Amino acid sequence: MSTKKILIVAGDGIGPEVMGQVERVIGWFAKHRDFSVSLEHELAGGCCYDVHGVAITDTTMEKAMKADAVFLGAVGGPQWDHVPYEVRPEAALLRLRKDLELFANLRPALCFAALADASSLKRELVEGLDIMIVRELTGGVYFGEPKMIEDIGNGERRGVDTQVYTTSEIRRIAEVAFELARKRSGHVTSVEKRNVMRTGVLWYEDVSRLRAERYPDVKLEHMLADNCCMQLVRDPKQFDVIVTDNLFGDMLSDVASMLTGSLGMLPSASLGAKDSSGRARAMYEPVHGTAPDIAGKGIANPIASILSFAMALRYTFERGQCADLLEKAVDATLAKGLRTGDIMQAGMTKVGTVQMGDAILAELTQLNG
Ligand code: IPM
Ligand code: MG
Repeated sequence: MSTKKILIVAGDGIGPEVMGQVERVIGWFAKHRDFSVSLEHELAGGCCYDVHGVAITDTTMEKAMKADAVFLGAVGGPQWDHVPYEVRPEAALLRLRKDLELFANLRPALCFAALADASSLKRELVEGLDIMIVRELTGGVYFGEPKMIEDIGNGERRGVDTQVYTTSEIRRIAEVAFELARKRSGHVTSVEKRNVMRTGVLWYEDVSRLRAERYPDVKLEHMLADNCCMQLVRDPKQFDVIVTDNLFGDMLSDVASMLTGSLGMLPSASLGAKDSSGRARAMYEPVHGTAPDIAGKGIANPIASILSFAMALRYTFERGQCADLLEKAVDATLAKGLRTGDIMQAGMTKVGTVQMGDAILAELTQLNG
């Protein structure tokens, strides 16, 4: 197997702590599974601003372009609240997504049996939950122009963001959702606000047309975004694949995360289009942020990042069995009662970031026989 290039961008806050555990897991697969990787490390976010005056450097962007996968921790923190907008930490994340053309963001919300009681919802509503949120990631209001604050005289200012989508942007993300649904239970819910937004009307029409043309076997349902929020907390198991725009996807995935027990559990994959050799650019990151309140304390939950590596094994490295093994090891660790603070429950054993990593590695070794 050829050597895979991974660029690690640990970022700010708890990013370096959780990525440290991911590196140990990568090391395990390198040793036990003929998984040959070269790792490089670069700065992005606030830590990069402190050194270079920008959120991400051109050199790092070039390395990201060439990598088989980028592993991102998290970026941001209150100490950078007042840096200029163009170089705020989040700009690094948005540039990576945009320049690498990672238009498809996959955010699975999976409830591990052992964590069903950690959810803010009743066990019976979330037990066995398995939703895939497919979020459009390079368009919509995040990137639409004009985007500005302008002076309109008399001490008044006007802020403008632009929500914009084209048919091809909508079709390519809907295609990802339909393809995933075919491998799951064959049900897509397309989410927009066509009752107030023209982009919502276009979204509705283009997704419907694509289904009629190419995916008549997949069940398609349309739902308004506000209703989807409500349905996610009322009866989340009605969903299989949810496909939605950049902003609604941001919000719905945060809602979905609490169904699973904690934001500390949710991985994500951001994928580009396949090139002629079948290779797609990819970035893997936990859905959670930098958690400044617990950064540096060694208590952050590394599972979202570790599960993001499992997604990389599945979607970039085509090692589905390794991904299954890693997910099983996480499951077994939770089943033994080990918990970081964010998913702690009475009667369980509270552990820190490194101990959680230790336990998952031990399970890997045990499952390996
Ligand atoms: C996410 C985050 C980002 C987003 C922020 C940090 C810019 O919330 O990945 O969900 O809004 O996309
Ligand atoms: Mg978000």
